Amino acid sequence: MSKKILNILKKKNKSKIICLTAYSKNIAEILDGKVDIILVGDSLGSVLYNYDTTKKVSLKMMIEHSKSVKKGVKKSLLVVDMPHNTYRNKKQALINAKKIMLEVKPDAVKLEGGKKIIEIVAFLKKNRIPVMGHLGILPQTQRGKFRYKGKSDVERKNLLNDAKLLQEYGAFSIVLECIETSLAKKISNNLKIPTIGIGSSWNCDGQVLVTDDLIGLNMTPIKFVKRFGKIRNNIKSAITIFSKEVKSKKYPSKRYSY
Ligand code: KIV
Repeated sequence: MSKKILNILKKKNKSKIICLTAYSKNIAEILDGKVDIILVGDSLGSVLYNYDTTKKVSLKMMIEHSKSVKKGVKKSLLVVDMPHNTYRNKKQALINAKKIMLEVKPDAVKLEGGKKIIEIVAFLKKNRIPVMGHLGILPQTQRGKFRYKGKSDVERKNLLNDAKLLQEYGAFSIVLECIETSLAKKISNNLKIPTIGIGSSWNCDGQVLVTDDLIGLNMTPIKFVKRFGKIRNNIKSAITIFSKEVKSKKYPSKRYSY
């Protein structure tokens, strides 16, 4: 197991794990070293490309964005989402995960699902590809409206079981997306590996958000998103000043000309 992954595991029950998304080098450079994990999430499909579903994100898109992100990452652990339909069976998963590992050289890949994918998780691990799991809302296979998970007893039992199986079959951590507060606590308390929550309360071992959401670049309203920045205002004011200076011929002055 790599030192970076060991450091993430050591944080369980000691300090919260911070994880954020990046889709390009510039954002990755800002995040690097300030967060424990940088995730190239397939959320880029909706956030950057305005797709109505992450199902449309291809392996090629994930690899290209991840290559850009990799250029900005030196310290944080880099995780790349395997997109929809790229890990339908062990053989396909290994071919595609190897492609990601070879072309991007991240520290791990992330897969959505529980019981259905445990053999794949174990197979990737056997081939020295570390896997982060993802339970709760699974955007790649979700049908219909998104609603939080853990309402019924059966759903709660299955989610806890899935989390235990992912751990047993080798996942080094699990993202819990939109899982009811007390269930997120139960899952986190029952695992040795860390849980990273998104919309799953403070009971998880860490938190992940889409960077564009938290800095106020993406303004899609989402219940669990708190806007920690107003980056749109900064961009707007820079553009307004640029426009004024161009019109008044203040820019580009001699200093900015050849
Ligand atoms: O795709 C993504 O960005 C994710 C996070 C929201 C966990 O999976």
